[in-house]
Amino acid sequence: MANSGKKVCFITGGSGKLGAEIALAVAGQGYSIFFTWQHSEEKAKETLEKIRWVSPESQMVRCDVSKVEKIEQAFETFSSHFDRLDLLITSASNFYRTTLLEVTETDWDNLVDTNLKGTFFTMQAAARLMLKQPFMSQIITMTDISANMVWRNYAPYTVSKSGIQHLTKIFARETAPKILVNSIAPGAISAYPTRAEEPEANLIEKIPLERFGDPMEIVGTVRFLMESEYITGQVINVDGGRLLY
Ligand SMILES: NC(=O)c1ccc[n+]([C@@H]2O[C@H](COP(=O)([O-])OP(=O)(O)OC[C@H]3O[C@@H](n4cnc5c(N)ncnc54)[C@H](OP(=O)(O)O)[C@@H]3O)[C@@H](O)[C@H]2O)c1
Repeated sequence: MANSGKKVCFITGGSGKLGAEIALAVAGQGYSIFFTWQHSEEKAKETLEKIRWVSPESQMVRCDVSKVEKIEQAFETFSSHFDRLDLLITSASNFYRTTLLEVTETDWDNLVDTNLKGTFFTMQAAARLMLKQPFMSQIITMTDISANMVWRNYAPYTVSKSGIQHLTKIFARETAPKILVNSIAPGAISAYPTRAEEPEANLIEKIPLERFGDPMEIVGTVRFLMESEYITGQVINVDGGRLLY
């Protein structure tokens, strides 16, 4: 097996802005990385090249997480390369504005199938592997503080993230004590200024810490959870205090 005893992390959405930074950071912690991408081939190749400087056996695969069959194929490819799964991070996500009265079935499916259904079936496939292993493993889901807010014009997205937060608790309870399951809910992160600005006007005025978050602050939270063996079923909001308003 390619990992020869090293710990292994499976991450969806490794071609994303935060997803790529997280994958690189976990490789830096001594893990072999297996990540998925869907449309951004160039970004995926660039990310894999960087990861392989520290973790040469790492792999990537194209996978549409809104299709259960594709998730199963990705896990088959994963198992052909790696013989253990220590950490799953579900970062793949679709995000766009949808006006409430004009949400179409296609919008709903694009957002909810990728974010909620994709996360569920990825967690299920990972848990099937993890529960057979003689050691504790971890799942970290990526959600959004909007799961706890009432944003206008983002119903399918915010509902999907809210659903993932609930799934996080369900998996934490049902897979304990073998798997620790937690979620990171970023607020407005500077890697993605349009995302930070669009859903709410004058956003920075509503952030008690008076600035957007840095991607490295999300990476730091991933590292914190990786080192924490007595935390499960929690959602960590990394939002500069935005939810205090
Ligand atoms: N960045 C922020 O400010 C912020 C704020 C709140 C929450 N979050 C959450 O943090 C996580 C990471 O964010 P990010 O900045 O990396 O997001 P991003 O840059 O938008 O990347 C999204 C990722 O999801 C993948 N993806 C989208 N649709 C997919 C599908 N159907 N099948 C498989 N993969 C798919 C994309 O792959 P391709 O590009 O290859 O298609 C990409 O890797 C996400 O869950 C996001 O919701 C981020």
